[in-house]
Amino acid sequence: MRIAVLNGPNLNLLGTREPELYGRRTLAEIEQATAERASQLGVAVAWHQTNHEGELVELVQGLPRTADGALINAAAFTHTSIALRDALLAARTPFVEVHLSNIHAREPERRHSVIADLAVGLVTGFGADSYVLGLEALVRHLRARG
Ligand code: DQA
Repeated sequence: MRIAVLNGPNLNLLGTREPELYGRRTLAEIEQATAERASQLGVAVAWHQTNHEGELVELVQGLPRTADGALINAAAFTHTSIALRDALLAARTPFVEVHLSNIHAREPERRHSVIADLAVGLVTGFGADSYVLGLEALVRHLRARG
């Protein structure tokens, strides 16, 4: 089973970016923890990060060829990108939306996700653990679906 992890803008700054909100772990450390759990679960993970909306759209467009499911932290594009939503509608690849912070406990403009209704489910607010929890939930979902 192949799982793609797509990370949006500014997540490359994790570790130093607003640590009170996002914690002190770097994206590379989160990738490492996710890869370890993936290997225990017997699934392959392809990890991506981009600051560019069009690149994120192209990664989503590629999902039907490259992955059985995806974990997506679209960061700020979560709240704004109809292009990302349209790409997910076209790709039809099952995905779990993940966030480090609880977006529903934040500013009003962050409480709405333009992609949440397309997701299998959401994991939001568990810091770096959101990725591992999201991976476990996604793999369980895909295996149950057969
Ligand atoms: C985030 C939440 C978004 O609102 C924000 O723009 C991010 C990170 C999170 O993981 O908590 O960049 O997706």
